[in-house]
Amino acid sequence: NGALGEVWNEEMSSSMLGKRLRKVVQNYQAMNKYGVKYPATVRAAHRYKLSGPEILCEIKEKVQVTTLTPDMEPFSGFPWGSQLPPRQITSDVGPFKTCAVVSSAGSLKNSGLGKEIDSHDAVIRFNAAPTAGFETDVGSKTTVRLINSQLMASEDHHFLSSSLYSAGILVSWDPSPYSSDLWEWFNKTDYPIFKQYQRYRRLHPQQPFYIVHPRMEWQLWQRIQDNMGEAIQKNPPSSGLLGTVLMMSLCEVVHVYEFLPSRRKTELCHYYQRFSDAACTLGAYHPLLYEKNLVKRMNQGSDRDIYTLGRVTLPGFATFNC
Ligand code: C5P
Repeated sequence: NGALGEVWNEEMSSSMLGKRLRKVVQNYQAMNKYGVKYPATVRAAHRYKLSGPEILCEIKEKVQVTTLTPDMEPFSGFPWGSQLPPRQITSDVGPFKTCAVVSSAGSLKNSGLGKEIDSHDAVIRFNAAPTAGFETDVGSKTTVRLINSQLMASEDHHFLSSSLYSAGILVSWDPSPYSSDLWEWFNKTDYPIFKQYQRYRRLHPQQPFYIVHPRMEWQLWQRIQDNMGEAIQKNPPSSGLLGTVLMMSLCEVVHVYEFLPSRRKTELCHYYQRFSDAACTLGAYHPLLYEKNLVKRMNQGSDRDIYTLGRVTLPGFATFNC
């Protein structure tokens, strides 16, 4: 069956991209907006490649899934610091048996995966991805919504008032300088995440709302870089991968949908918009190409699941020992 040859190739590299995207990726590699200091291609130089289970263990051991709490500096010194949840998301939420991660990819369109997605104990969605009107393909359950700070600050998204954000548990993130010192980040966020957080909390005081400790972004970034044979973009991983790792810390089994594109793969960026750009699936700012290589290596499901369902199966951190 030649069709299965079309599933994601875990050896994808920037040289396989079109000319335009390759240039964009190279520019981001060179830019280093966040001051990343980390040696690239160490493993490639040693011709040493980790197996899927070994990568899973590395992520479990080296990526701390942490959210901000009121006792952390500098937030402990601000009156609004008490708006932060007192406990870690991993103490408050779950554990769940089965979880679905719903990427926002255009290939979810006409997938008919809605029922399967909703059958999970918890479902995570991203940014402005709606369910209303798309239930057949993406389901209607939302347990967690992971949003970036750009969306929180953007006028077009009406973050403070739109009902899109009022269901489920909110988790937000913003890229920090590579050092991940919270003081330094506080003075140099990409977008005004803390201003918007305070305003949202005042309007919706009952809805749980966490902020990811930015250390997690860079710890995960290091796991990607260490396992790739070339220098990756020096920007944080995409919301999709951050959410996948978050769910691996809350769930026994995690199914990720259309992160690795199925036979429905398309240049359509999101299932809910008409905009098309291959960069949405292959990455430009985010090291998304390499995130997908890593997820392909960790996948415990079959290539047929990827091809027909766009589904990857990952084990929760609590289910394996290293
Ligand atoms: O675009 P947005 O970040 O809101 O989409 C959520 C996540 O879904 C992305 O961070 C990315 O991981 C994944 N995605 C994808 N392919 C697309 C669109 C989104 O893998 N075409």
